[in-house]
Amino acid sequence: MNTSTPLPRLENLLHPDQLLDKQQLLDGLLQPQARINPKFFYDERGCELFTRICQLDEYYPTRTEATIFQQYAAEISQALASQAQWVDLGCGDCSKTRQWLEHLAPTRVIGVDIAGDFIQACLANIADGYPQLECVGVVSDFTRQLDLKKLLAESPDSPPIFFYPGSSIGNFERNAALRLLRRIRQHCGQQGQLLIGVDLVKPVAILEAAYNDAEGVTADFNRNVLEVANQLLDANFDPSAFQHSAIYDPRNSRIEMRLIASRPHTVRLGTSAVRQFQRGEYIITEHSHKYTPTGFSLLLDEAGFSQRQMWTDADHWFGVFLAEPKA
Ligand code: AVJ
Repeated sequence: MNTSTPLPRLENLLHPDQLLDKQQLLDGLLQPQARINPKFFYDERGCELFTRICQLDEYYPTRTEATIFQQYAAEISQALASQAQWVDLGCGDCSKTRQWLEHLAPTRVIGVDIAGDFIQACLANIADGYPQLECVGVVSDFTRQLDLKKLLAESPDSPPIFFYPGSSIGNFERNAALRLLRRIRQHCGQQGQLLIGVDLVKPVAILEAAYNDAEGVTADFNRNVLEVANQLLDANFDPSAFQHSAIYDPRNSRIEMRLIASRPHTVRLGTSAVRQFQRGEYIITEHSHKYTPTGFSLLLDEAGFSQRQMWTDADHWFGVFLAEPKA
């Protein structure tokens, strides 16, 4: 690396230990209806499997969003504030932000993710290509709390653009999604913007195929969360005792992903807790909500945003929404 390039700044807003996470995971597994928050999918192997999911023929969201970004890059960039602070929520490897840098000239890039080492490397990578650009990595679980006000206030003349791609918002129940959007709204002031990717309602066969791929990558991704639980809680799940299931519930407009015990299974959760699963009993691992364009527009409205524009693909499978604070 060029030695004159300073290492990007890294702010750690994460709870200093994993106690909170552990407690959340344990509590969910001990509820009468067992649950695991989908954020626990993403250990190293989980991230690898998710990358493979994004490349599957059946999994259309990543590809479709990328197509929309490509096709409308000029138009979207036109609509975005210049001299802004670009905030990538869940930046991961920052690859999506990197592509936008070909079209936009933000004053700085703020990458927010739960995985610290990862963003450090990725922001360094961005800084390498754009040495003039200030990069800040924020290690934070923004699904729990988003607090970037101090950081944003360092550049009071640069409005924030919140970039939340990939339909990650779909993981939240409607009320939780509303809370997060309101929280983002509170960071926007009058000039801020939100560019958000949302998976849209479509025929059930297409939705279900996307979460039941022929190769079984999604099934492995789903079961891997039990390895994460084994690690984090010192538990002894046998992932092979659970079957992957992903079914679309039209009433709630969401894919419901589960792990169903295919035989009775007793699991030790650390030293002090035990959970028994009867055959057929299941763990809810992920809800992936799908919106209609009107439905999401309404959610934005309730959060204090007005929708400026929506870009979509020819099939209307995915929507990219640009929202601004309501006047
Ligand atoms: C990352 C939440 C958008 O819901 O489609 C993919 C995760 N789960 N396949 C989604 C996921 C199973 C994904 N999100």
